[in-house]
Formats: sequence, C-alpha cells, structure tokens
Amino acid sequence: MANPGLDVNTLPDFRIIAYRKNDSSHTNEQKQESESRKILRTLTWTYCGPLLPLGSSVDDNGDEVFPPSYHAWHNATIQGPKLITSLKPFLEFAHEFMKSYGLENYCLTIRASLPTDDYNTPRWHTDLEVFPRRGNRKRPTQWGLATTLLGPGTLFAANGVPAREMLRNLSLQMKQEARDHACSSTCTFCVSTVEITRRRTTELLKGIEVVQAKDGDCCFFKAGTGKGSVHSEPPMQCDRIFVGIVPGSEEDLKAVLGNWGMEGFPLDWCLGLPNRFVPQDFISG
Ligand SMILES: [Fe+2]
Repeated sequence: MANPGLDVNTLPDFRIIAYRKNDSSHTNEQKQESESRKILRTLTWTYCGPLLPLGSSVDDNGDEVFPPSYHAWHNATIQGPKLITSLKPFLEFAHEFMKSYGLENYCLTIRASLPTDDYNTPRWHTDLEVFPRRGNRKRPTQWGLATTLLGPGTLFAANGVPAREMLRNLSLQMKQEARDHACSSTCTFCVSTVEITRRRTTELLKGIEVVQAKDGDCCFFKAGTGKGSVHSEPPMQCDRIFVGIVPGSEEDLKAVLGNWGMEGFPLDWCLGLPNRFVPQDFISG
C-alpha cells in the first residue's frame, strides 16, 4: 500500500537491506543455479516506465511478460538458467519499497559484464543527481536501489561524511590545478585528469572502513555530492550481473529521457545503446 508520507530524508546516505523475505527458502540448489549462469558478453538492458508486471503475468515459457528487448538481451548475454528466478525476489522487494514512498515508475538497468581489470583500482564517487529541480515543483527523488545477482557487491564507504568531504576537497583542488596549470597541445594533465583524480581519490580514501553487500542484500543509496553515498565498483575479475533502479515520477523520467533525445514512455533498449544514453553515474556501482 502506498504511503507517500514516508520521508526518505530520514534514511542515511546508504543502507544495506536483506531483500529476501525468507532467506531459508533460498536453498543450496537455488544458490547453485545462480552461480551456474555464464555471461557471454558485456551488455546492458534498460527499461524506463511503470513498474514491470510481476506475479501472474507469465508467458508460455514461464517468463514474466517483460518487453521483447529484455528477452533479446537475455538470449544474447546469459547462458544457463533464466535470470528471472534470481531477479524476481529483488524486484518484488524494490517495487514494494518504491510504492511505500508513493513511486510507481522507475528506470531499471541490468548490466551483465565479463571479467575486467578496469576496477582493480576503486572508482570512489557519489552518483549524479538525476532529476533537475524545476521551479516550485515537488522535489524530485534523488536515490536508488541496487543489487548484484552474480559476482561481488558494490563497495560503500561506511562513514559518508568524511568521505564526501575528502571528495569535495579533492574536486576543488583539481579545479584549482586545472585553472593554474600551463596547458599545451601535449598537456598530460588534461589528457589524464580522470585517471589522476581516480588515483588521488584512492590514495585519499585508503584505509577507510568499507561495507559490501552480500548475496541476498540490496543497497538503498542517495545521489548527489551533498548527501550521496560514496561508493565504487568492486574488483570485477569474474562474471557479474548488477541491477540498478532509479525511481522517479513519470514527468521527471520523461524529462531525463528527453534530455537524451528519446521520446516515448515507457521505453526499453539494449544492444549498443545503453552507455550512450545512460550516463555512467546514473546507475553505476
Ligand atoms: Fe555510482
């Protein structure tokens, strides 16, 4: 039952929540089924629209009636048992969570990825605020839910206040250096700013207490430099399936899609499009 009276501001910048109603029902057989999935290629599927139907909406193959692009993505990406058996418990929890805040629309992203060395060094950051604040309209949501159905969970800085302070100070320092440096056509500072920032961030946050979600956990997290959780992808030298949700009003989601040059609602897509249309920090982790 929707309860829009709930105030998300009372929640911390992130919270790890066990989403399975009854973990004892998650048998060894189900765990083995989850772990037996193989990722064939790194590919993302994204859906933006009303909460997807769960429960009675099942087709002849026993799949939930999701958009055709989901099944195309699944066939191209996952070898082994259908993902829905692992995905559904998370979506059931997430839908109820969103409804309790009066939200009935979201952007849902499922990213399957092959092993990579790209995150052996952490990428500590806060996510961007997705929805712009416009006039006197109700303040848009600036939070998300995420989980990992295969592979390691996202890393979170346990204490967000000093971590955000460190990131803010470093950002100011980098801006100052960008203003002051002697630029040339072969300027290594400009070419490697992202890498330099990442290296310095890693050095700064070395030794902080880190919390990582485990199987059956999901993470509520806030976005934005002011109150957002400080987090990073974990080392990902194995197959991984990450699921991220950004809830919002239909109006706010349509505005974001419009900014990406996309018209229509709901919309869903995969096959070469997601990284072009979904900024990394929208749903990363
Ligand atoms: Fe992120």
